[in-house]
Amino acid sequence: MKFYIETYGCQMNIYDSEIICSILFKSGFIKTSNLKKADIILLNTCSVREKPEKKIFNRFLKINKIKIFKNKKLKLGIVGCLATHYKNNLFDKLKFLDLIVGPDSYNKIPEMIKNLKTKKKEIDVRLANQERYTKIIPIPNGGRSAFISIMRGCDNMCTFCIVPYTRGREKSRNPNSILKECKLLYKKGYKEIILLGQNVDAYFWKNMKFFQLLELIAKTVPLMRVRFLTSYPSNITKNLLKVVKKYSNICKHFHLPLQSGSTRILSLMRRKYTVEEFLLIIKMIKKIIPDCSISSDIMTGFCTETQEDHRETIRIMNIIKFNFSFLFKYSSRQGTYAYRKLKDNVPNSLKISRLNEIIRLQKSHSFYRLKQNIGKIQEVLIEGISKKDENYYYGRNSKNDIIVFTKNKSKIGSYKKVKILNSTFTTLIGEIIP
Ligand code: SAH
Ligand code: F3S
Repeated sequence: MKFYIETYGCQMNIYDSEIICSILFKSGFIKTSNLKKADIILLNTCSVREKPEKKIFNRFLKINKIKIFKNKKLKLGIVGCLATHYKNNLFDKLKFLDLIVGPDSYNKIPEMIKNLKTKKKEIDVRLANQERYTKIIPIPNGGRSAFISIMRGCDNMCTFCIVPYTRGREKSRNPNSILKECKLLYKKGYKEIILLGQNVDAYFWKNMKFFQLLELIAKTVPLMRVRFLTSYPSNITKNLLKVVKKYSNICKHFHLPLQSGSTRILSLMRRKYTVEEFLLIIKMIKKIIPDCSISSDIMTGFCTETQEDHRETIRIMNIIKFNFSFLFKYSSRQGTYAYRKLKDNVPNSLKISRLNEIIRLQKSHSFYRLKQNIGKIQEVLIEGISKKDENYYYGRNSKNDIIVFTKNKSKIGSYKKVKILNSTFTTLIGEIIP
């Protein structure tokens, strides 16, 4: 049987799709990148915001047409967060759907597909309290960089967020299986690993905390770059910063979602820090690792957000000047505390105009941060040939900035010293030091 898979949402989902591929390959399935040749089509979905969710529903309706008009035997599956969010109701919403599988049940997919020969529909959306995929070796999609999920789920219960409901409680993975995966990726020629978790810095296994795991990984694969995301701001500790500083292969980049620059809104969101505390965390990071990059997630128009709250967000952004940020407008998600108890009372047009304002601001901050690299010599991992001009390579520095430079004999996948000469709004321009 041939399967086709399409992935939406965060890096965790990309990694999960790699796991799903591995599970299906083991059972003899063949992957196809042609929708029309597939016997089963899976959409690995995200429900964290309304807009991407709508996109997935529309995509499904389009794919549905293949089943209606071309291949009546085609099986259609929704896996991932939409599955746990809507559960059985998805069968009512999407008429031709055959399979619904939640993020903790991917091991069952082959069996569930087989059952579809005799059964009409299959669903498994149970959430586990233990990591289920320690024995699966995911199949990354080429490139030089591979994801490794080290923990799943989230216990934080921010009032706006659906993740704790769709992905369940925090569960960390056995460090031995993580190290095994790191070594295997190194052997296969990968040059960078990105450790993933909804709250990567909440990793906890017996007596092992995140900073200890990170040190172990940095030592085990010293020739690989190690990145990690997403960090919950108040989980950043001095111990963690010391480890990041000590190992040159740990990248000097922190992704710390601020969400809002107003302490009143942060408290309504049930984030565990005030704006002042967030600023102190940034100060501590910059003191220990001055040349690092800090990125963030921020949203506009959360319940009851006033113009004053919004101005506070702008004020804090201006103080910190994040290297980059993912910026969103708030959308109410059914089942969350905010959906049930708070008023989604900021008009959509205002959410959008506030969002546009912070997008413009972030662009100027990103440019400011990029320009700070000019004149420096940085170690760059060559990742490929520039899409815009084949005479150029592109790669990234430790801070995660993208750098474009003239191609020479250096191999893709090697580390080279590059002098930064200039910057556009999004990219650095450099030259390889011979
Ligand atoms: N700790 C996780 C958060 C996952 S959700 C991580 O960053 O990996 C990713 C981001 O989506 C959040 O940081 C938040 O900024 C945004 N988000 C979550 N729920 C949202 C909602 N209901 N509306 C708009 N944005 C949301
Ligand atoms: Fe969501 Fe907050 Fe966890 S944003 S993933 S509940 S840290």
